[in-house]
Amino acid sequence: MNETEQIELTLTLDGELVTFTLGETLYEVAQRYGREIPTLCYDPRLEAFGACRLCMVDVQGTRNPVASCTTVAQLDTVVHTESERLARHRRTLLEMVASENGGAVSVDPLRGYASQELGLLIERCDARTDRFAGAHSGTSKLDDANPFILRDYDRCISCYRCVRVCAEQEGDYAISIANRGFQTQIVTEFDHDLRDSACTFCGQCVQTCPTGALADRKALRNA
Ligand code: SF4
Ligand code: FES
Repeated sequence: MNETEQIELTLTLDGELVTFTLGETLYEVAQRYGREIPTLCYDPRLEAFGACRLCMVDVQGTRNPVASCTTVAQLDTVVHTESERLARHRRTLLEMVASENGGAVSVDPLRGYASQELGLLIERCDARTDRFAGAHSGTSKLDDANPFILRDYDRCISCYRCVRVCAEQEGDYAISIANRGFQTQIVTEFDHDLRDSACTFCGQCVQTCPTGALADRKALRNA
């Protein structure tokens, strides 16, 4: 082999031999080859975060499924994106997520571009919305006095897409994550209203939120 020749990087995806480029994640490879792996915390514009675990796939030789959005493709691996076990896993995760907002997953589509994502996935994966009930995280900030963004954290599933888009796309860092577990809350600095934070009301957080927890107040008002 001369110096300019390169090894072709391949792996087996659902029985099909496919190529990938160095650094590509399993999710990116699978997507390029037409697989529709469910995701909730993924946004192609943002650094993968691995929070929701919905994008799990099976990799031969590993005991547990791995998050495809954060797993870099490796030479000669054998990957399965669909199986009865994965379907069960995704369904259970979605049912737990649905319990976060009391099973009320359908929202007005005017809330935002991605606001239907959770509802559509629940439908697609045949998940129930009433299987788990109990405590849920997030305290709504419906009284945030700004005319643009509704902050309905009762619907928040802690995917952190809003926080990441604000930091990575806008460079604003107007919102961040406070606390952990059921106490997790999306906050501004000192928990002030958005108007008193670094927020520029660009609307990126509304556009990426997959549950409608953040909503476009103007669109809802004009409906
Ligand atoms: S408000 Fe929306 S985008 Fe932000 S963490 Fe909650 S569900 Fe995700
Ligand atoms: S999409 Fe991969 S962990 Fe959420």
